[in-house]
Amino acid sequence: MDIKLFWLVSAMLLLTVLVEARRRPTERRRGNRVTPSRYTWTRELAAGTTVNEEATTPEDSNQMYVKSIDDRLPAAGFKKALLLYDFSGISPIVSVTLYERHRRGLPCYILDTNLTYSDVIATLAQRNNTDVGASPEISLDGSSPVLSRQAARELFDSNPSLRKACRGGRVARTSAAATASENTEVVKVLTLDSVLNLTIQGAANSTRPSRRGSRGRGRGSSRQG
Ligand SMILES: *[C@@H]1O[C@H](CO)[C@@H](O)[C@H](O)[C@H]1NC(C)=O
Ligand SMILES: *[C@@H]1O[C@H](CO)[C@@H](O)[C@H](O)[C@H]1NC(C)=O
Ligand SMILES: *[C@@H]1O[C@H](CO)[C@@H](O)[C@H](O)[C@H]1NC(C)=O
Ligand SMILES: *[C@@H]1O[C@H](CO)[C@@H](O)[C@H](O)[C@H]1NC(C)=O
Repeated sequence: MDIKLFWLVSAMLLLTVLVEARRRPTERRRGNRVTPSRYTWTRELAAGTTVNEEATTPEDSNQMYVKSIDDRLPAAGFKKALLLYDFSGISPIVSVTLYERHRRGLPCYILDTNLTYSDVIATLAQRNNTDVGASPEISLDGSSPVLSRQAARELFDSNPSLRKACRGGRVARTSAAATASENTEVVKVLTLDSVLNLTIQGAANSTRPSRRGSRGRGRGSSRQG
């Protein structure tokens, strides 16, 4: 009887030690900021219209996820969007995913940036819990044909987190601003450092499934840069 009890107690002790040993590392990680750093700020779009924005930076990732999804954006003429600033690849890259992307079958848009990871971290640290005021306007054209599947795959391979940010879907590279045509629409999106006028394929064209790119072979879209 006593022997049995001894073994039972020993077994329970061993189990406790094992469970503790397994639990520790995650607790230590959590205490040690593996949870992403979070920054929030407000931005004034026009007199009296201020929106909330947020960025998170997963530890050791060289990336920032920016959320510009304030409900006051549409009334102010802006689109809600999620942005990824990815400095993990060879060249820094920004993706813009419009919130209404699914409904309208839009691609995610790829921008180049001259910002560096440390620029962005410094900017975020500075603006945490502050109002950033007005931002300069820039214009880019995102209405060009989406990347071919092959080109998109290459991009996702070199910047793996883009695959998730773009939901593994279609991708369009932006270029210097184009003149708008009747098939295009200009939407406004907030980036970290600008108000972006983004030319996209207009409503008339984007509700239909695209004939190019998504299935089968994309038309030879040129990869720049
Ligand atoms: C930003 O400010 C909030 C609120 O003061 C704070 O909890 C958070 O840790 C700050 N973020 C960073 C990354 O310092
Ligand atoms: C980056 O800097 C170069 C040289 O100053 C400039 O030509 C280019 O337009 C900049 N690109 C962006 C995305 O700001
Ligand atoms: C952005 O679009 C607005 C109209 O919504 C226009 O007034 C402004 O000039 C554009 N900015 C640039 C840099 O093209
Ligand atoms: C958009 O649709 C119109 C017809 O509705 C077509 O003529 C035009 O080529 C399309 N544009 C693009 C960029 O697909």
